[in-house]
Amino acid sequence: MRVFSGIQPSGEMHLGNYLGAVSNWVGMQHEDAVFCVVDLHAMSMPYDAAELADRTVRTAALLIAAGLDPDRCTLFVQSHLPEHCELSWILQCTATMGELNRMTQFKDKGRGQESVSTALFTYPVLQAADILLYDTDQVPVGDDQRQHIELTRDVAQRFNGRYGDTLVVPEHVIPPTGARIMDLQNPQAKMSKSADTSAGCVLLLDDARTVTKKIKSAVTDSGREVEHDLEAKPGISNLLSILSGVTGRPIADLAAEYHTSGYGTFKSAVADAVVEHLAPIQSRYAELVGDPAQLRALLAHGADKARAVARPVLARVKTAAGLLAG
Ligand code: TYM
Repeated sequence: MRVFSGIQPSGEMHLGNYLGAVSNWVGMQHEDAVFCVVDLHAMSMPYDAAELADRTVRTAALLIAAGLDPDRCTLFVQSHLPEHCELSWILQCTATMGELNRMTQFKDKGRGQESVSTALFTYPVLQAADILLYDTDQVPVGDDQRQHIELTRDVAQRFNGRYGDTLVVPEHVIPPTGARIMDLQNPQAKMSKSADTSAGCVLLLDDARTVTKKIKSAVTDSGREVEHDLEAKPGISNLLSILSGVTGRPIADLAAEYHTSGYGTFKSAVADAVVEHLAPIQSRYAELVGDPAQLRALLAHGADKARAVARPVLARVKTAAGLLAG
């Protein structure tokens, strides 16, 4: 069962990335699990070239600190394998303008921009290439990636229909809780680094005081009871998802335990649990970033392992698509 997923090195990782995706990756590690820092995707929006390489290494360090073990899975950097771009081109010949135009992430990210790169438009095809290049069965992601995985499936099926059975059609794996962690200041919007204020987004590397302040000033709902009700209590429900994610306890148990404790006590408990959960990740991260040469060596080894899987798949696709063998 091959597993593949990716994360952008766009600044620091937040609790949404962690609870919606990365913490699940940790539990899905085995020799056929492949995780990728998608630096090429990060170039599709305006970015600082002087910082990208450093962010890429730091993102890899944080993934390892969060529990990915490069000996048990494959961890590598997307741009180290040109095969991703090569397959992306071939798949662009199968994907259509109409389906890419329907991608909500393209519309959201493009909105209000003076000019939008072509890469932002074709972004989901590169993502499809990432996944299909590894004969992937399962793609563990947060809820916001659902549409991109659907597109990947559509493109793979169309390719197979046209050129014969060539690509494995993957399934997404979306966790029952944590798939959609919301902004603490605006529980109608998903937690994201690009929100207007950073107060609603807990970063994995925030210090204990900052985490506590952000969680204690989270927007709550009318009423006093701690209940999981996405319609009536989106703020409290979000905090329950976060508490469940970091403690591993079911939401129903937590809602029962804190039902009458009052919002203040409940928020303090969430803040303490998050701080406690992040502390070992942060200290491991501090150790890892102190040795960038070691991280680079781990990523080079990961790229070798990824290449061994990707090359034969790409060769199969090129043959099926009618390209002359070189
Ligand atoms: P990215 O870098 O935006 O996010 C990485 C992962 O974090 C999840 N996520 C969330 N989950 C719950 N609540 C949130 N508020 C939240 N915010 C982010 C995302 O769903 C994702 O799983 N396009 C992808 C990267 C990518 C990829 C791939 C993923 C490129 N190629 C191939 C899977 C397979 C992205 O931008 O994720």
